[in-house]
Amino acid sequence: MLIWDLPLRLFHWLFAFTVIASWYTSDQDHDLIELHMQLGYFALGLLIFRILWGFFGTKHALFSSFIPTPKRLFLYIKNFKNTEDKYSSGHNPLGSLMVVLMICLVSLQAISGLFINDDVFSSGPYYDSVSKEIEQVMFFLHHNVFDFMIAAIALHLLAIAYYVRVKRQSLILPMITGKKPLNLAKDTDDIKHSKLWLAVFITIGVTVFVYWLVVLNAPIIEEYYY
Ligand code: HEM
Ligand code: HEM
Repeated sequence: MLIWDLPLRLFHWLFAFTVIASWYTSDQDHDLIELHMQLGYFALGLLIFRILWGFFGTKHALFSSFIPTPKRLFLYIKNFKNTEDKYSSGHNPLGSLMVVLMICLVSLQAISGLFINDDVFSSGPYYDSVSKEIEQVMFFLHHNVFDFMIAAIALHLLAIAYYVRVKRQSLILPMITGKKPLNLAKDTDDIKHSKLWLAVFITIGVTVFVYWLVVLNAPIIEEYYY
């Protein structure tokens, strides 16, 4: 039965690719910082899309359906070994926290990128339009949040490996096909369709917004070469 809609699946794999590619292109030795910034804008677009999809998307993509209450989280941890996975057709309570954490960390990374400068030729579009103190905070964030992001992604992959090895469940295939077998999801949790038109509409809106943010609205930065 269909659990993960197509836009969410596309978001996931594009997001994973973009984060890894941003990491690779951030290395000054590769001389790809322009591409790094473009990927960063793309990541920003994906994040805005995902946040909107968390309010208007399909059942299991909604934040209200998966962000756990402390009680639900506690019960899940208490009965961890014998939790019936059938009762969390979407993200499980612990996994949900990880999802929120990853979205927050990548957001911090992408937003801080808009305000930084590499001391050579490249700078985010809003470098120089905030105070020096804010610039320093952004620089600090861009250079340090990434380590936490790596740790969160490593935990994410370990949790998925745990499900495969110990619980004998592949969560990966559902993230590709969108479908979970009947023994892993409640039959009433089937989503009827992926709300594709809404996703297209949101994507156009997000694209226009990001273009406005990083091109049209960005102040022109004076560059001095000595
Ligand atoms: C940079 C790498 C990655 C990042 C940042 C990332 C991030 C995320 C996020 C944000 C979600 C939540 C999806 C949503 O509700 O929007 C998620 C779910 C998921 N990811 Fe990843 N992911 C990464 C790599 C991978 C890889 C390589 C795999 C497969 C081996 C994978 C497998 C999954 C699966 C199976 C889920 C669904 C988990 C569940 O059933 O609750 N991810 N990931
Ligand atoms: C997914 C989003 C992003 C990720 C994962 C990411 C990651 C990174 C990493 C790991 C570094 C190297 C930091 C270090 O050497 O300690 C870096 C540097 C840099 N990033 Fe990003 N970044 C992202 C978005 C952005 C955006 C949106 C911009 C600007 C528009 C940007 C501009 C830069 C610049 C200019 C540097 C070089 C800074 C320096 O060498 O001092 N990044 N980024």
